[in-house]
Formats: sequence, structure tokens, C-alpha cells
Amino acid sequence: MNRLQDRYQDDICIEPQPANSGRGNTARLRRWGVLHLALVARVLLFEIRALFLHFVGRWRAKRYRNQQRLRLQFGCGDNAKPGWVNIDLSPKADLQLDLRKSLPFADGSCECTYSEHFFEHLDYPDDALFFLRENFRVLAPGGLLTFGVPDAGSALEGYARATKGAPFTPVPGHPSWVRTRMDQINFLFRQNYICQIHQHRYAYDLETLELILADVGFSQIHQREFDPLLDTESRLNGTLYVSARKS
Ligand SMILES: C[S@@+](CC[C@H](N)C(=O)[O-])C[C@H]1O[C@@H](n2cnc3c(N)ncnc32)[C@H](O)[C@@H]1O
Repeated sequence: MNRLQDRYQDDICIEPQPANSGRGNTARLRRWGVLHLALVARVLLFEIRALFLHFVGRWRAKRYRNQQRLRLQFGCGDNAKPGWVNIDLSPKADLQLDLRKSLPFADGSCECTYSEHFFEHLDYPDDALFFLRENFRVLAPGGLLTFGVPDAGSALEGYARATKGAPFTPVPGHPSWVRTRMDQINFLFRQNYICQIHQHRYAYDLETLELILADVGFSQIHQREFDPLLDTESRLNGTLYVSARKS
């Protein structure tokens, strides 16, 4: 092993290899290949299921075709709201739709669209901007878009401000492996990165949201307070809520 390898052995994972290391490498490569194949198969299955559900969901959405002043909740999870059309890929929704695709609602047929801890699950910029454009299309003039996402800006500020060595208080409801401030940041930025649907795909702060909402055409964009009549109690801490109007 040369001196460079010696120095950075831990970083670049170069271990001293026995004479018959060829077989070990092949086994490792095979294991790596199987793991990746399993991952690809999982993503493929997810996409096929999402496509099927979306197809059926579009058909079911025909009942809303002639309705006006709809209120849509996206990515509702377990938090379906009475009086709203609750949309998700989960079976608990009124409509199962893949929200990376176009919405089966008429232009200007909605008075309000809402989501909580959903928007960050869309790839940025493509899916995320497409979703916002679809919101803009289905909202009536004067209609309200309002949603909450994990407040990545505040989390990073908190990280930078924290005194070195000060104990970290775990956030209730977060997984037990989140034991440090850096675990917390990783959880926020790439939550469940191995599982397609529950993955965080982008992190937002107010500046970024203001910019992209204005790009799409929204106005009166602002951060709003937690609304106990609309938002979920357990999301109170660490969520950035914004509102905007289609003028
Ligand atoms: C973190 S959960 C939030 C659930 C709920 N709003 C809450 O605050 O507890 C994110 C939700 O978005 C849904 N979701 C993610 N990607 C989606 C997609 N492409 N289409 C539809 N729903 C999606 C998931 O099924 C999940 O229910």
C-alpha cells in the first residue's frame, strides 16, 4: 500500500487484500448488484402501482367534474378533513391520485388547495413546479393556496446557533436514531431516503417558497401562523406555513 492509501485508508475503504481477494471482490460485487436490483424492483413496483391507482383515481374524479368551489387537500395521509376532497396515494384518501401528474379537476374549480408535509415529497424542480402550476390552474381567481413544509431554514439556523456540546433534545415522534442535531438535519433533508413514497426530496425555506410561488404566478405570498382549525397539532413545531392567492 502506498503512503496516500495508508493515510486515507478509512475514507477510501482500501483494506489490505489477501492473495485470493478476487473471489471476495466478486462476492461483494454480486451482493452490491443484488441490493441494487432489489432497489430498482422496489421503485418499479411503486411506479406501476402509482400508475394504476392514478388511472382509477382519474376515472373516479369524474364525479367532481361539474363542481365548483372545491377544497382540495393533497397528501392527506391519515388526516382526511370533512368537507374537503382528500387526495393521496394511500387508501385512506377520498381519491387516490399520483400528485406528480396533472390534476383531474377543471380550470378554476377550486376555492382552496391545502397540504401539510407533502410538498417536500416532490422532486424539485420538475414535479414540484408542475404541481404548483396545476394548483394555479385549478384555483379560481382569488383562490387560496396554503401549505406547510418542514422548516429547513430554521433547522439550519438552530444548528448553527447551538452551543457545542449542549445536549440535544430529541423531537417527539421522530425515529429513535435521531440523537444529534446533525441526525435531525439529515432526517429533515432526506427522510426515509430508501423508501420512494416517504422520502423527502427537497428542503425549503421562506425565500425559496416565495420565489417559486411568484414564478408560477401567485401573489400575496406570505408566511402564516399555525391555524388550529386547519393544521395538525403535532405539526405545530418545525413547520413553515405559507399562503398565496391566485389573483
Ligand atoms: C409525511 S406524509 C404527510 C401526511 C399528512 N399530511 C400529515 O401531515 O401527517 C406525506 C404524504 O404524501 C403522500 N404522497 C407522497 N408522494 C405522493 C404522490 N406522488 N402522490 C400522492 N400522494 C403522495 C404520502 O402517501 C403521504 O401520505
